[in-house]
Amino acid sequence: IPVDPFDLVVFGGTGDLAQRKILPALFRRFCTGHIPDSARIIGAARSDMTLDAYRAFCAKAIKTYGGTRSCEDGTVQEFLSRLDYVPLDAMGETGWPELVHKLEGCAAGRVTVFYFSVGPRLFGPLAERLRHHGMAGPDTRIVVEKPFGHDLESAQALNATLARHFAEGQIYRIDHYLGKETVQNLMAVRFGNMLFEPLWNSQYVDHIQITVAETVGVDGREEYYDRAGAMRDMIQNHLMQLLCLIAMEPPAKFDPDAVRDEKLKVIRALDAVLPHHIVRGQFEACLDPDHPHPSYRGSVGEPRSTTESYIALRTHLSNWRWAGTPFYLRTGKRLKARSSVINVMFKDAPHSIFGEEAGRHANLLSIRLQPNEGITLKVTIKEPGPGGMRLVDVPLDMTFAEALGPDGGDPPDAYERLITDVIRGNQTLFMRGDEVEAAWAWTDPIIAGWEARGDAPKPYPSGSAGPTDADLLMRRDGREWRGINP
Ligand code: BG6
Repeated sequence: IPVDPFDLVVFGGTGDLAQRKILPALFRRFCTGHIPDSARIIGAARSDMTLDAYRAFCAKAIKTYGGTRSCEDGTVQEFLSRLDYVPLDAMGETGWPELVHKLEGCAAGRVTVFYFSVGPRLFGPLAERLRHHGMAGPDTRIVVEKPFGHDLESAQALNATLARHFAEGQIYRIDHYLGKETVQNLMAVRFGNMLFEPLWNSQYVDHIQITVAETVGVDGREEYYDRAGAMRDMIQNHLMQLLCLIAMEPPAKFDPDAVRDEKLKVIRALDAVLPHHIVRGQFEACLDPDHPHPSYRGSVGEPRSTTESYIALRTHLSNWRWAGTPFYLRTGKRLKARSSVINVMFKDAPHSIFGEEAGRHANLLSIRLQPNEGITLKVTIKEPGPGGMRLVDVPLDMTFAEALGPDGGDPPDAYERLITDVIRGNQTLFMRGDEVEAAWAWTDPIIAGWEARGDAPKPYPSGSAGPTDADLLMRRDGREWRGINP
């Protein structure tokens, strides 16, 4: 369904995110006919670029990051002709009258989106100037990128600043994991089938693992990352959101507040994490002559940095559904594979009628976010042949690309989905202010704990599955990680 006519202003329009994600996503939506003819996209940034130079910048972004759906030159040119650019100073007055002028003459009721693709210190000044220049009307929406704060206090301050100028219903806090196709599928699988939900509790689920493993390092973001670390960069937001969707109660309907109310209850039910349930790590240098790279400390240029590039932890939910089922989360940089997967490990059957020699078998539901999006259910069957009742585990596999054809294999990028949702005014896949604050309220004491103890991260080889202590965290509980291990 095409969206209504809109104006989209991208603050930070020449930045890394605009280049890698926002502009290519808009282009792909344009290719699929989802951008109406009268829509306008305006880049705004400090750089004193001409419009031609900005269009050249966008053409390069599309070529480099447009993905497999890049269209012919004619389409690219047509898209570029929709773009406009304003040099603008977020902290000063330069460029604002020009922006106002460009946005003038729109019919009332036309959606205007301001995308804050800038550092959080500019959120307040941008919001203030939008209000001051009369651009914060009821049809205005603002999109705010992460990091949304560094801790609870700064997140509260940001929320308060934005709330002075915009209503909560106008603020779209992005967590791009919520735009990933499989993440939305998680809700479809849970709440669209009768099969899983009756078993979705501590009576039947032994434990849940959430892994987001990356092969990339921290290149180009050293300063930010060394202040953040994996806990703030990934667990507080992306893995937390996955945990919420896995653990939440069925909302009464698929509407923004119903879904976000349920997610909030999950975050508030999270227990404090015990020190011996946390493993932090830092990657070591890679000496492979084909892919050499420095250690974490070398990358960030801080020989004594104690920031973690890897974290694994075990947590619990104190609520009726999940009491007794541990949730293991882990994420890290420079690991052996790029793999994001949620594993729901069911309990063993209560009694084996096939005797001890048949071994222990438990069902496993694997939800793969990337790569190779899909869902696998491991079930136990009889091994074929006359050799008696020997059991084996086999996968019931639904790889989206195979099951759904080409579109299933090339799902829209998270940003395509999320930007479209902003224009349509659907906040379901965006974080509400109270949700973000609750996530920080859980995260802060964990970080304060290891800082007070002076715990140092454990080194781990680049290209490995992370520190061996993370395996011990599981083994102590008689369990093991699945996914990128062994
Ligand atoms: C970002 C983090 O939010 O997500 C990065 O800041 C991380 O550190 C990235 O690499 C991972 O996103 P994706 O979509 O590549 O899994």
